Amino acid sequence: MERTVVVSGAGSGIGLAVARRFAQGGDALVLVGRRPERLDAALKTLPHGRSVAVAADLSDPAGAERVRAAVAAQGHDRIDVVVACAGAVTRATPVTLADVADVWRADFRANVLTAVLLVQALRERLTRPGARVVAVSSIAAFRGGGDSYSAAKAALVGWVRSLALELGPEGIGVNAVAPGYVAGTEFFGDRMTPARHERLVARTALRRPGTPEEVAAVVWALADPAAAYVTGAVVRVDGGAI
Ligand SMILES: NC(=O)c1ccc[n+]([C@@H]2O[C@H](COP(=O)([O-])OP(=O)(O)OC[C@H]3O[C@@H](n4cnc5c(N)ncnc54)[C@H](OP(=O)(O)O)[C@@H]3O)[C@@H](O)[C@H]2O)c1
Repeated sequence: MERTVVVSGAGSGIGLAVARRFAQGGDALVLVGRRPERLDAALKTLPHGRSVAVAADLSDPAGAERVRAAVAAQGHDRIDVVVACAGAVTRATPVTLADVADVWRADFRANVLTAVLLVQALRERLTRPGARVVAVSSIAAFRGGGDSYSAAKAALVGWVRSLALELGPEGIGVNAVAPGYVAGTEFFGDRMTPARHERLVARTALRRPGTPEEVAAVVWALADPAAAYVTGAVVRVDGGAI
């Protein structure tokens, strides 16, 4: 049966791979991100024409409202899966306390609010019972090393567990994936050096970075109705990283 699946951060990287995975399975997608041109390009790569794109900044309530309105306008009464993949790390070295506050706000907006506002906007439309929510955290939540980014990704874990308790009685599952080093996305921008790559790879059991498709495969599995008894969980997709 075709499901309606909303994916944020779908214009690039892991979000795009997730969107492709669900589209290959025959689902209708709603792709969300800030850059409309990236979403349009992503739409063209999907194997069927039943998906739409909504350009919105999900760290802003107005952006989440736009997604809610677009979903309603498309006639999607029920949302079966929400994948909150949008996220980013702030590239700044804070000096003053005001800088520290700015960086922490930016990382919480990009990684926590983008997920919370999206799910909250669609909450009433989630299929009951049966909907699945998957948030994209990070091993930085457990391993540290990312300061405000690590803290924001850890906050997602607490939220996922709370939401699983809240929505569980209505038959809705809520989980997170925590990727390790995934290459081939826009996440690192120009901050990936050969030395950093080697350092990150050396910490994995598999001695290689992950691919967006390998994360998408786990998101897909968590959204499978057959996996309905998995909720409140965080699944690491990190090549056995230490
Ligand atoms: N790559 C890794 O090694 C790694 C490891 C662990 C966790 N993660 C997490 O995985 C997720 C996907 O990252 P990625 O590696 O695929 O990097 P990416 O290619 O940079 O993808 C992030 C996506 O999020 C979107 N986005 C960012 N802020 C947004 C906002 N305020 N509203 C709406 N969309 C927003 C971006 O699109 P726009 O700029 O167009 O909005 C972009 O498409 C992120 O949450 C990241 O923290 C990545």
